[in-house]
Amino acid sequence: MNKIVIENLNLQYADGTESLRDISLNIPANAISVLFGPAGGGKSSLLRCLNRLNDLTEVRAVSGRILLDGADILDPKTDVIALRRRVGMVFARPVTLPLTIRGNLTYGLELAGEKRKSRLDEAAEHGLKLAALWDEVRDRLDDPAIALSGGQQQRLCLARVLALQPEVILLDEPTSGLDPISTGKVEAALQELKKEYTIVLVPHSVQQAARTADFAAFFLQGELVEWASGKELFTHPKVKRTEDYIEGRFG
Ligand SMILES: Nc1ncnc2c1ncn2[C@@H]1O[C@H](COP(=O)(O)OP(=O)(O)O)[C@@H](O)[C@H]1O
Ligand SMILES: [Mg+2]
Repeated sequence: MNKIVIENLNLQYADGTESLRDISLNIPANAISVLFGPAGGGKSSLLRCLNRLNDLTEVRAVSGRILLDGADILDPKTDVIALRRRVGMVFARPVTLPLTIRGNLTYGLELAGEKRKSRLDEAAEHGLKLAALWDEVRDRLDDPAIALSGGQQQRLCLARVLALQPEVILLDEPTSGLDPISTGKVEAALQELKKEYTIVLVPHSVQQAARTADFAAFFLQGELVEWASGKELFTHPKVKRTEDYIEGRFG
């Protein structure tokens, strides 16, 4: 089942940069879809379209459709706050809140009006378990989040998104600052999470793309060059430009 259907999406920033050109792409549920390619290809721009974060930047024109469960999220009538709860985002640098570990998990729910301690504790535990962090922090939930290692902070950010019970998780180079062991933990968590969520990942390397992709899309300068199952794309790319990039022959 396709959770997200992107049809003929174009995005132009205020300075005239055409960062996405006629992108059509289906994003299936319960899988990891990877968007990869060199810097400037439009990967982050596309992720930001999927939860309307681009509303906060200077965009000149957006056209096309992005259907989430069949409803166009680019429709001006879309409830953007509700959309961002359904479609959560994890960024490259972990941005923890200046709160305790528990506070980072419960903040969003408290903002949404939840006051019951039992519910908040439950949500915190749930998010931390899903992000594969619970065992490491269960005895120190009241410590400041900033005391965690970089890898733990990144999983905390993932846990914070998960505590809001989203349907889609967007991750923009979530392991770019992490060591291989922490990276492995985040990747392992994503493999578990895809059983219940739709995951869209911008990897920090071709190797990570190949390791994690159920489906992979190669982006080059605002264009979607090739889209296939990860297995197919990384073993038998159909387009020469994809092959050159995968094999590191890219100038
Ligand atoms: N806020 C912005 N204003 C103007 N141009 C932008 C903005 N964000 C990104 N761009 C441009 O859009 C293109 C795609 O960028 P981006 O989506 O960040 O690519 P990627 O994530 O693949 O590196 C680039 O040319 C970039 O300079
Ligand atoms: Mg980017």
